[in-house]
Amino acid sequence: MMMKFDELLDLISQTLETEFYQKEMKPFGLYEPVKYILNIGGKRIRPVSALMAANLFVDEVIHLVRPALALEVFHNFTLLHDDIMDNSPVRRGQQTVHLKFGTNTAILSGDAMAIMAYRCLENTPLEYYPKVMRVFNDTSLKVCEGQQLDMEFEDKLNVSLEEYTQMIRLKTAELLAGSLKIGSLMGGASDTDAELLYQFGIHLGIAFQMKDDWLDTFGDFEAFGKRIGNDIIENKKTFLLLSALEQAKGKQVEMLKILITQHQSDLASKVRQVTDIFLELGIDKQNEQEMLRYYNTAMHFLDEVSVENRRKDELRALAKTFVYREK
Ligand code: IPE
Ligand code: IPE
Ligand code: MG
Ligand code: MG
Ligand code: MG
Repeated sequence: MMMKFDELLDLISQTLETEFYQKEMKPFGLYEPVKYILNIGGKRIRPVSALMAANLFVDEVIHLVRPALALEVFHNFTLLHDDIMDNSPVRRGQQTVHLKFGTNTAILSGDAMAIMAYRCLENTPLEYYPKVMRVFNDTSLKVCEGQQLDMEFEDKLNVSLEEYTQMIRLKTAELLAGSLKIGSLMGGASDTDAELLYQFGIHLGIAFQMKDDWLDTFGDFEAFGKRIGNDIIENKKTFLLLSALEQAKGKQVEMLKILITQHQSDLASKVRQVTDIFLELGIDKQNEQEMLRYYNTAMHFLDEVSVENRRKDELRALAKTFVYREK
């Protein structure tokens, strides 16, 4: 049976509840932020992608929900630490964990979540366990590598678009690709098909992060649930900023460099000025085009997967929401 997005989401939510919300978890101070971050929302795209990938190859995926949850728990762990690193005040429309509970708590609850992700993985069907573990561990380290590059680039002006793409591949696309690969392996896919789903995930994940970067500047706060302009405030090297640095001329480029290298006391004004330069140069549209290029490449990899074409429709529809989203 092929499962729909909503059905998978329900399964994931129910399993999350039984795994994490009902057990008495002490000390309260450690587990409260875990429940908080998992309860305030999130699109759950990583476990859904994993289960959809499994469902391409096998009809029954209910027994794979718990290992798939590892991907969501791991993702949420990275968010706790990411919000500290990015000085982000809001996530999913709510106060971030480090502001609500304190930075030390956000670090430790994040650590606990990383371990809890491995707990979920204990439920991987035995025959797939070694392979799944290897992919999960490779993926996790790559996320750390990407996050380190993301931070290093804040203080670096001459970052190339290639370096940017490599950085977002590591910090974001690898986890989506790993989710798809793990899901497909647990569904019994051949190595060739698992690799195609991995490549689908890498390209889709790059598109996904490019959309996230776009929304960070041009999104609507109510929908996006994160502070608009946070990347500009933090001097994040996005396609938007790097392209603007490349294409700005004369006074505009001087202005841009001052805005991102010298301390700005008026952050709202900084965000406004940088955003205006992006718009004047039409960088918002260029970001969109480049994003769609990765999205289209992703779709070609999915086309190559050797299962009946209509089995891929649910995954295609999901992928589409990644580039046409507001949150
Ligand atoms: C946020 O991921 C971090 C990025 C990789 C951009 P999502 O956009 O999937 O966040 P949630 O889980 O739905 O809140
Ligand atoms: C997130 O990138 C990547 C990881 C959390 C690993 P961002 O820093 O852009 O994610 P958001 O925008 O805070 O969700
Ligand atoms: Mg962030
Ligand atoms: Mg970040
Ligand atoms: Mg972001």
